[in-house]
Amino acid sequence: MAAAATLTKIRFEKATPAIGARVQGVALDETATPEIVQALREGLHEHGVLFFELGEGVEEAQQRNFARLFGELEPVYGFSTEQQEAQAKRGSGGLIDADFQPLKEYRTAQWHTDGTPFERPPQAAILTAVEPPELGGGTMWASMYAAYEDLSSHFQNLLDGLQVLHGTMRTPFVRERAQSIHPAVIRDPVTGRKALYVNSVYSERFLDMSESESDALMRFLFEHVKSPEFHVALTWRPGTTAVWEERVTQHRAIDAFTGKRKLRRITIKGDKPSA
Ligand SMILES: [Fe+2]
Repeated sequence: MAAAATLTKIRFEKATPAIGARVQGVALDETATPEIVQALREGLHEHGVLFFELGEGVEEAQQRNFARLFGELEPVYGFSTEQQEAQAKRGSGGLIDADFQPLKEYRTAQWHTDGTPFERPPQAAILTAVEPPELGGGTMWASMYAAYEDLSSHFQNLLDGLQVLHGTMRTPFVRERAQSIHPAVIRDPVTGRKALYVNSVYSERFLDMSESESDALMRFLFEHVKSPEFHVALTWRPGTTAVWEERVTQHRAIDAFTGKRKLRRITIKGDKPSA
């Protein structure tokens, strides 16, 4: 298919000024032509999170094929938990089920970027609603481009040179302990835009700073990320699928819902984030 025809076929409809787009014209069994792959990946980096309605009854194999449009799949998401191992034994790997993984206990309902204690955190993630809540229980994303761009140039200059230690001290549920150092501000390789890379679940402290300076700056940034102007919220319906570029966004679940909450997650491999 010619590039021009692809551009007409795929439509990105912005969800909020800062973040998110609903995507039309892409099917669950989409053929991965280079033009489609390029359009989707560029859209992902630009909008931060993409929403698709793929219809009811999306099977795991179909979701995995769809996920390949966005990059190389990670066999298992980095952190193993007792729960994940039990699920893998039952053959339901990747299922995030609130009956077994309470949102509060697993820090799911707190703003974060996945896997930042790793040297190579995930690049993207894909969630499909298998059994969405009857009411509530949505997911929110925040643009870290917007969070960075909203700061004064004085604050941007301060953060630009800083490094942050990420670790697992606030996540006792994970089996393995991990620590990595990443820049406080990273640059997206596709858009060239800078993004704030500090999150309230895994970022532990700024390097080359006193503990009280680091704590004060962390507290300020954790609050800053909560600004609703940077956010988009999604209500899950059967087959609703969200794909997000991990490194330029944060996300959190809304821990108020009725009924079940089962979402299936697939992770796309990433590399070391750089400034
Ligand atoms: Fe997460």
